[in-house]
Amino acid sequence: MKVNQKENVRALVSLLKEVHSIAVSTGAGISAESGIPTFRGKDGLWKQFRAEELATPNAFMRDPKLVWEWYDWRRGIIGGKSPNPGHFVLAEWEKLYPEFTLITQNIDGLHAKAGSRNILELHGNIWKVRCTQKETVMENFDAPLKEIPPLCPKCGALLRPHVVWFGESLPTEVIHEAFRRAETCEVLFVIGSSTVVQPAASLPFHALEEGAKVVEINLEPTPLTSSANFSFLGKAGEILPMIDKALKE
Ligand code: OAD
Repeated sequence: MKVNQKENVRALVSLLKEVHSIAVSTGAGISAESGIPTFRGKDGLWKQFRAEELATPNAFMRDPKLVWEWYDWRRGIIGGKSPNPGHFVLAEWEKLYPEFTLITQNIDGLHAKAGSRNILELHGNIWKVRCTQKETVMENFDAPLKEIPPLCPKCGALLRPHVVWFGESLPTEVIHEAFRRAETCEVLFVIGSSTVVQPAASLPFHALEEGAKVVEINLEPTPLTSSANFSFLGKAGEILPMIDKALKE
């Protein structure tokens, strides 16, 4: 461990031992070590696919089969993956702290698989489908799907993935609650997010304005790094267990 990282961990751990209220905001980077591709960066999904052809309401109206084939492919990748040590540390911290909120932009369901319970999913969940007529939301874990595009078992209408696409609003209650938690917590972690997609990217800045300390864990600097109180450059699946170990010593 580098000397200043050791110092950083020591200072953070003494803060974490004092506080009662923690919020965590995660992005695709926390699932990278589980083998799920991120969106940006060299091998990111948006390098291989055009978002506007696959992740917009217009794309779905134009060609639901194509959009569903892409989600079926992603469900196939995600379905076989397991949570990594980063997910497990966060699930443990939920039991350790009286107030703990996990906010995620991820749709992969790996936080729940690791045991986290109180999760605010800002962009939905790839294992849920929604009826395009009645808006009913259902769980569907088929990978591969039995039919593409899938139809509502209740009314026969087209189903869509229960995820937020570009140009769509985030679920109001979920985003309000995420901002409320970020603005009232004592420490906010931002883990594995490029912090360029709104409104999630604003959460740490709201937290800072309200006096919270912000801790960032990322492989590389982001637009948040210079404002964060603590910045750890490295893999979430290594840094989180390191902080957790020091916290329990
Ligand atoms: P991005 O793909 O934009 O960013 C992933 C971040 O994780 C990058 O900053 C990487 O440096 C970092 N990273 C990669 N591996 C890591 C590791 N092992 N440990 C720590 N950090 C790591 O993903 P998001 O910020 O989550 O939205 O993207 C936000 C939204 O953009 C997604 O939810 C999705 C996408 O378009 C929708 O689909 C609506």
